[in-house]
Amino acid sequence: MTTIVVAMGEKNEIGFENQLLWGLPKDLKHFKDITSGHPVIMGRKTYESIGKPLPNRTNIVVSRRNDWFEEGILIVGSIKEAIKFAKKIDEEIFIIGGGKIYEQTMDLVDRLEITRVKADFTADTFFPEIDANVWKKVNEECHEKDEKNQYDFCFQTYEKI
Ligand SMILES: NC(=O)c1ccc[n+]([C@@H]2O[C@H](COP(=O)([O-])OP(=O)(O)OC[C@H]3O[C@@H](n4cnc5c(N)ncnc54)[C@H](OP(=O)(O)O)[C@@H]3O)[C@@H](O)[C@H]2O)c1
Repeated sequence: MTTIVVAMGEKNEIGFENQLLWGLPKDLKHFKDITSGHPVIMGRKTYESIGKPLPNRTNIVVSRRNDWFEEGILIVGSIKEAIKFAKKIDEEIFIIGGGKIYEQTMDLVDRLEITRVKADFTADTFFPEIDANVWKKVNEECHEKDEKNQYDFCFQTYEKI
């Protein structure tokens, strides 16, 4: 199974100036729980935004540069290659962004694990539209804001119809 993991606002916004848009510790835990132990594929900008390899996961970073190296990650030149390597490691693989990578993998994945944050944000990066003819929501779990999580949000799972 190949799964996209993404957190987005009500207008599909996912990032601004190479940063996330909110602080939601419950979402970070959810992300860690879902992806730990499995390969994760990300774009070079998302990797730089995180700033270090995510622990307990093979980090596969997609870049067209051939002069860029970082310790502790696997750098590949295409999404196809990233998926090929990831599948050699594990059946369950996760695509974790950002916008450019989501755009190119929406058609390739089996499942979407979405955190829908119930607010609007200023953003420069967005998730593609989720086509209701292609995707159906199969699960949803909502949480209200609290002292540590500043917005209401829902964890949603979509699968291909
Ligand atoms: N809310 C969320 O769940 C979430 C998750 C992840 C990221 N984000 C946010 O998204 C933003 C970053 O997204 P982004 O769209 O700017 O960048 P990105 O998708 O993370 O990375 C884009 C880079 O990936 C490489 N790339 C893309 N397509 C490629 C291909 N087909 N072959 C080879 N390399 C390819 C290129 O790297 P080179 O330039 O090195 O060639 C490109 O510049 C940030 O704001 C981040 O915080 C949000």
